[in-house]
Amino acid sequence: MTITSSSLKEHSLLGLKELSAAEISSILDRAAYWESRTEKKTPILKDCFVANMFFENSTRTRFSFEMAEKRLGAEVLNFAAAASSVEKGESIYDTVRTLESMGIDAGVIRLKPNGLLADLAQRVSVPLINAGDGNNEHPTQALLDLYTMRKHFGELKGLKVSIIGDIKHSRVARSNLWALQKFGAEVKFCAPPSMQAPELAVHAPYVPMEEALCADAVMMLRVQLERHAEGLLKSADQYRQEYGLTEERAALLPPHVIIMHPAPVNRNVEIDDLVVEHAQSRIFQQMSNGVPIRMAVMERALK
Ligand code: CP
Repeated sequence: MTITSSSLKEHSLLGLKELSAAEISSILDRAAYWESRTEKKTPILKDCFVANMFFENSTRTRFSFEMAEKRLGAEVLNFAAAASSVEKGESIYDTVRTLESMGIDAGVIRLKPNGLLADLAQRVSVPLINAGDGNNEHPTQALLDLYTMRKHFGELKGLKVSIIGDIKHSRVARSNLWALQKFGAEVKFCAPPSMQAPELAVHAPYVPMEEALCADAVMMLRVQLERHAEGLLKSADQYRQEYGLTEERAALLPPHVIIMHPAPVNRNVEIDDLVVEHAQSRIFQQMSNGVPIRMAVMERALK
């Protein structure tokens, strides 16, 4: 494949804000195709080398990318910052350039800082897939969330989706907001004042908890303690009482409502232990759906 900057742009996935509804739909449709396949491996990427470069911890995203890549027959290189020369002070750019110079065909990358990924994508000549950057975007998480909602409700248009919790630090909230609105879904936020992102209020209103629970999909977010500069969470119990999806609140949800969470979960903080596997919860289905979504994304990157 001859790589040009326009083909790189088409093959990379940096965020959903820049993708059209048609492009997102085509990824979701392709994921449905991959989900329908019964064989474990379809080696369409057997001559491709993919590096999974995680500069921040991950369980779901990292392993579902690896599962997706291996199901498509790709050769997978796993890079963990803690066991690399990053520990000796090597920059992220030099690390990515190093792997590129060794011949990788695509890179999946998770980064702590905002804004670095767009710069990296300009400077390297392999497609990059955003596996979560700062609080900017987590496009494959939102794609699997959309896939889960579309699968349950049939379509996204007109859906009422409430995103509840630590909006300020959430790349999941941002990617879902940008994508859901392209399909005509109605997004509302609910968060304590200290965890709101005021710049997003022009795109979706902040509403009280009672109003947020009047939705078709209730998406709970993890309180991201590792990103809290100062003690934003005064008391886990108080947070649970005011903003948690408690057993009592879950019991009041009409039967058609689905409960979502990108995970990892702080059980008994933003969501009660027993609600995680509630009949209306789709949390583990979200994780399952992450594999066909990432198969579709890797296929798009490399075919
Ligand atoms: N949802 C998500 O991104 O989980 P990980 O941090 O485990 O990848």
